[in-house]
Amino acid sequence: MEANGSIGFFDSGFGGLTVLKSVVSVLPRFDFVYLGDNARAPYGNKSFDLIHEYTLEGIEFLFNQGCELVILACNTASAKALRTIQQNELPLLAPEKRVLGVIRPSAEEIGNYSKSGFVGILGTEGTIKSASYVLELNKTSPQIQVIQHACPLWVPLIEEEAYHTEAGRLIIAKDIEALFNKNSQIDTIVLACTHYPIIQPIIEELVPKGVQVLNQGPLVAHKLEDYLFRHPELTKRLSKQPQTRFFTTESASYFNEHASKIFGQVVKAKHIQLTS
Ligand code: DGL
Repeated sequence: MEANGSIGFFDSGFGGLTVLKSVVSVLPRFDFVYLGDNARAPYGNKSFDLIHEYTLEGIEFLFNQGCELVILACNTASAKALRTIQQNELPLLAPEKRVLGVIRPSAEEIGNYSKSGFVGILGTEGTIKSASYVLELNKTSPQIQVIQHACPLWVPLIEEEAYHTEAGRLIIAKDIEALFNKNSQIDTIVLACTHYPIIQPIIEELVPKGVQVLNQGPLVAHKLEDYLFRHPELTKRLSKQPQTRFFTTESASYFNEHASKIFGQVVKAKHIQLTS
């Protein structure tokens, strides 16, 4: 029997496209399904209960689309909902399927990048308050000093494409300044929100010279490749007929216009509703 399973990507909006783009370039032979919950973004400042509820709805939708594996391409959902879903809901919902996040695979790699040993983490309020990167980096690279800063306005700026405005740039500059005020020895910044690579050129203009800015997309893509290699029982259920389908809870035309620019290809999404 031919394998027909897909790999699903879930995010609050456009951010997960930055991860999907890297994954498609590393694993071009697979079948992908993307779901952006744009109508309910941002997730970053929402409660644990809401993020859990929305994320679970997204995962169920992706499972119903034939996904065998779902990547929470959202740090906030990975920080707030992943563990509960893996432990409580997944065993009842679909014990043979898998749900993975983006924080652990990124944390496993980050330690290889810093020379000074001081790493800045920029993320949503939810991700920063969860201290997930601090905890994970303490395990994988205990020599690294982690300096965190929450940028609660960045996701709304990106979802609205308002980052090029004077006010938008000022907000971004102020947050970067605030991070370096906490510690000036930072030599590596992790964009710990999948939306942030969309404004990476602006961030790179604003950070001090010599500071590297890490997009977690390529890190996650290589970790996923490795994961599929180590889990042949899952990989053999995945379709090797390459295609990518897109779904959004916002209007499809709004999503298509922005997503096509971010993804670098024409995107034709379908509108869906997740609320029951
Ligand atoms: N892309 C999501 C993340 O990585 C953004 C969350 C939000 O909607 O605030 O955290």
